Amino acid sequence: MIKKLLAVVFGLLLGYWLIDDFNPDSLKGKRVLVTGASTGIGEQLAYHYARLGASVVVTARREDKLKEVVAKCSELGSSSQKYGYIPADMADLEGTEHVIQETVNKLGGLDILVLNHIILLDLGVWTGSHHNLSLIDKVMRVNYQSYIYLASHALPHLEKSTGSVIVLHSMAGKLGQPFVSAYSGSKFALDGFFGGLRQELKLRQCDISITICVLGLIGTDNAINQLKDYGQNFLLSIVKAESPSATALEIVKQGSKRVRQMYYPYIPVYPLILLRDWFPETCEYVNRFVYTLNS
Ligand SMILES: *[C@@H]1O[C@H](CO)[C@@H](O)[C@H](O)[C@H]1NC(C)=O
Repeated sequence: MIKKLLAVVFGLLLGYWLIDDFNPDSLKGKRVLVTGASTGIGEQLAYHYARLGASVVVTARREDKLKEVVAKCSELGSSSQKYGYIPADMADLEGTEHVIQETVNKLGGLDILVLNHIILLDLGVWTGSHHNLSLIDKVMRVNYQSYIYLASHALPHLEKSTGSVIVLHSMAGKLGQPFVSAYSGSKFALDGFFGGLRQELKLRQCDISITICVLGLIGTDNAINQLKDYGQNFLLSIVKAESPSATALEIVKQGSKRVRQMYYPYIPVYPLILLRDWFPETCEYVNRFVYTLNS
């Protein structure tokens, strides 16, 4: 009797976990801005949104790349959707207002803001050198402050549309990672800011969802090249890199379902995050095991 009951409960839980209740029609006609969309996960996000019927504006620094992304978006979507691009450097915080305003002008409003861009840095040991310290200001400006600026300028538009902010985040923003400590720090900071903002929005009964996307190793060209250049072949041989397109699709789905936090790949990201506060040293030990220290 007990066994049967347990089997039923377990079956229900497993079923619940496996059911994909994403409604592909939910994105039709939505107005989306994707940052860092010239390559990697951002580029794939733009394609999925376009394919699912959303109007998409992409931004990044390289105009030629953005033009290509927009051309492909218009192939994937229909002619009733709108597509556009805005070349911008997120290190320029004053320029963020223009990016949001231009997007709203092009699309007639904003439903989904996807914050995805990061500054690309070489991996390296933090020795405390002047060179190291010279990086921190730009890392925080691009990876953290520009996210706050963009979300802030978008807030009135998202309030009108009861829209969503989707924040690309990382395992490195939940458990500090070696050789990318400045990046880790900027991702931790995002967690604090958007965690606080989410609660304020609830207190103010403002129906804007914030989805934090906690990602493990994703096989973008940039990520793989950086790890290779820094001799992390052992890591690459034992950790499976997820495809950028599959990752982007999962982000699109969870964002449209307005979940507060998603994990991809679910294993090992979610178990590591669950365990990190109870068994921090064990987690760090397991985590450290995959890295190689170069001299
Ligand atoms: C920090 O500085 C040292 C010495 O200049 C350098 O070897 C290392 O790569 C730097 N680390 C980062 C993360 O840039």
